[in-house]
Amino acid sequence: MQRTADGFRREGKRIGIVPTMGYLHEGHLSLLRIAGQHANIVVTTIFVNPLQFAPHEDFSRYPRDIERDTQLAETAGTDILFIPENNEMYSRDHTTYIVPERIADVLEGKVRPGHFRGVATVVAKLFNITKPHVAVFGQKDAQQALLMQRMVSDLNFDVEVIVAPIVREPDGLAMSSRNVYLHPEERAQSVVLSQSLQLAEKRIASGERNSGNIIAAMTNLISSKPLAIIDYISIANPHTLQELEEISIGAAVLISLAVRFGSTRLIDNTIVNVH
Ligand code: PAJ
Repeated sequence: MQRTADGFRREGKRIGIVPTMGYLHEGHLSLLRIAGQHANIVVTTIFVNPLQFAPHEDFSRYPRDIERDTQLAETAGTDILFIPENNEMYSRDHTTYIVPERIADVLEGKVRPGHFRGVATVVAKLFNITKPHVAVFGQKDAQQALLMQRMVSDLNFDVEVIVAPIVREPDGLAMSSRNVYLHPEERAQSVVLSQSLQLAEKRIASGERNSGNIIAAMTNLISSKPLAIIDYISIANPHTLQELEEISIGAAVLISLAVRFGSTRLIDNTIVNVH
């Protein structure tokens, strides 16, 4: 991989990376296509990164289907598929980690301590292995995308980060590899996540500026689904992730949420520009 990446670079080719954990869906594939618009060589990586899962989380049951993924990735324009083994990525002596702070400590980072340390460390390693000019991440994981932009800037990685829009199922549920965990009843009720974000957008469009009122309306709607348990709903500055009590005109806000259905945890978000 190392030599190949160097070779491509010597030939003046632009390398684009799309890091994934596999079990690819249309959301991942949209990232590959965007990478193809910005690079000559699209590298897709598939690695279920143990470092970003807490012991009680779903690492061992995370869905995997390498054969199907290989086919999908190739069809969507992958030139190089990198599927490392655990021991290739982390030797027994592994000692060095990247620990994002501040914006990594809220929202997902608060509920999943150590998660973003795992993400940042693996992505930094994947960058060093594949030497990309450009990397594409999804807005689906808004905090992750923001942290990747920060990491690249803070640590002087020579990589352009592109953030791609959220791809949704026809009923609005944001695509996720974890959606396969949902039982039929949970799947039916999960549509409430995107509906609550739309409700928030509508309230803001009709002049509501108080975050508490918007969050209360979203909470009501989500709680109308008996299987939904809210982890958090947040209205925050999209750059600093600081919670906003009041929404000011001319600014953008990130509305994000995490909701559990049984043992399945779903996240979704939207960025609203306030006129
Ligand atoms: P994974 O969950 O497989 O997601 C890989 C990439 O696909 C991420 O950038 C994610 O934001 C994006 N993505 C997922 N669902 C999407 C959707 N519905 N629409 C648009 N983009 C979507 O995120 C990870 O893996 C890992 O944390 C990783 C970055 C690979 C590090 O291990």
